[in-house]
Amino acid sequence: MLTIFMGLANVNVAHQYLNQQTTHNVITFGAVGNGRIDDSKAFQSAWKAACYGGSNIASTIIIPFGKTFLLSPILFEGPCTSRSIAVEILGTIIAPPKSAWRDKGVGQWLRFHGVNGLNVYGSGSGHIDGRGQSWWGNGENSGPTALSFSSCNNLQVSGLKHTNSQRNHISINNCKGATISKLTILAPQSSPNTDGIDISASTNLRIQHSIMATGDDCIAINGGTSNVRINDIACGPGHGISIGSLGKNGRHEEVEDIQVWNCTFRETQNGVRIKTWAGGSGFAKNISFSNINFIKSDNPVIIDQLYCPHTECSDKASAVKISDVKYIGLRGTSVSKKSSIEFRCSKAAPCSNIVLDDIDIKPALPNISNSAQCIHAHGIARACVHPVVNCLQN
Ligand SMILES: *[C@@H]1O[C@H](CO)[C@@H](O)[C@H](O)[C@H]1NC(C)=O
Ligand SMILES: *[C@@H]1O[C@H](CO)[C@@H](O)[C@H](O)[C@H]1NC(C)=O
Ligand SMILES: *[C@@H]1O[C@H](CO)[C@@H](O)[C@H](O)[C@H]1NC(C)=O
Repeated sequence: MLTIFMGLANVNVAHQYLNQQTTHNVITFGAVGNGRIDDSKAFQSAWKAACYGGSNIASTIIIPFGKTFLLSPILFEGPCTSRSIAVEILGTIIAPPKSAWRDKGVGQWLRFHGVNGLNVYGSGSGHIDGRGQSWWGNGENSGPTALSFSSCNNLQVSGLKHTNSQRNHISINNCKGATISKLTILAPQSSPNTDGIDISASTNLRIQHSIMATGDDCIAINGGTSNVRINDIACGPGHGISIGSLGKNGRHEEVEDIQVWNCTFRETQNGVRIKTWAGGSGFAKNISFSNINFIKSDNPVIIDQLYCPHTECSDKASAVKISDVKYIGLRGTSVSKKSSIEFRCSKAAPCSNIVLDDIDIKPALPNISNSAQCIHAHGIARACVHPVVNCLQN
């Protein structure tokens, strides 16, 4: 009996040892949290302690509730030795105004690079405020990405409020496996380039249950990205959910296996958009948008394979091929005075296997009318109540 008992006890000890948790409150590393003193050094020290805990340790950095931490541009770098790292943001993190940035050309404000198993969560009270007003000006925006994740595996981000980024709010680049959920991303409709989430060169991502209202795309999916599932996003105002633009400056880019479902677009400039530059190569394929609701969106459904905003556009010899795109169960209203569904594809590489099924997007006002327009677009349309779609080629 005794031997058996001791055996069990030993197993227990080993189990606890493997699951050691350590917490690192930024205050104990010297952070002040009064919104005026730069707390970057304290955050950097907390990161080092959490990151190099050792392979048995699950580390958590705590950014406490009720305090405001001013951070200059900061890099949280891996690889870490700890088994996992969590960053619990309960308080507020703010950026200095543009005038106080030493390097105004820095590309990121809060940057996580090369960290695996990172979990950043806000538990509903965490707030990141880029205070981007001083960067916005008119039109072009040279500000940094507010929150950037690059070269990571198994990322989780949830429960955060994220406002007024200097430029785009979140970027995910070169990551495998990420779940992003329960975010509220807000910036004025007039703020330039304040995308919600930008994705590039990444695979196996899930983005769900979030609210995004900004001056640009809610979510933008760029080259080298595959297997992205997006659901339950309330988007708008803003520019909608975009794939692309792909193939700029003749580049070869590939995007595939994207599913977007159960999303609402309210007063957005676009809804669901695929945008590729004339002259590029590669493909965007196996993409579906289903159960989507539009409320007064301007261009609910758009494929623009001839994107070329700055120069005279011609139907160039090459294009990023677009195929296997499904639109199923799209409803609501559009304020477009031209076309609520538009497929502008190239002669060189026509769009193929486009499927429209169960579509009813009505004009938002009685005095406007809109229709479907297709150029070099092949596929089938079923049950399209409004607009009637008879422009797809077989
Ligand atoms: C299309 O993409 C979905 C999800 O992103 C994936 O599950 C499916 O296997 C893909 N289909 C093909 C034919 O590649
Ligand atoms: C998702 O679907 C549910 C059930 O139909 C609906 O109540 C909810 O509003 C939808 N979410 C969005 C963002 O459209
Ligand atoms: C349609 O009517 C609304 C008011 O009901 C008005 O503001 C708008 O200018 C009209 N649009 C056109 C194209 O006539």
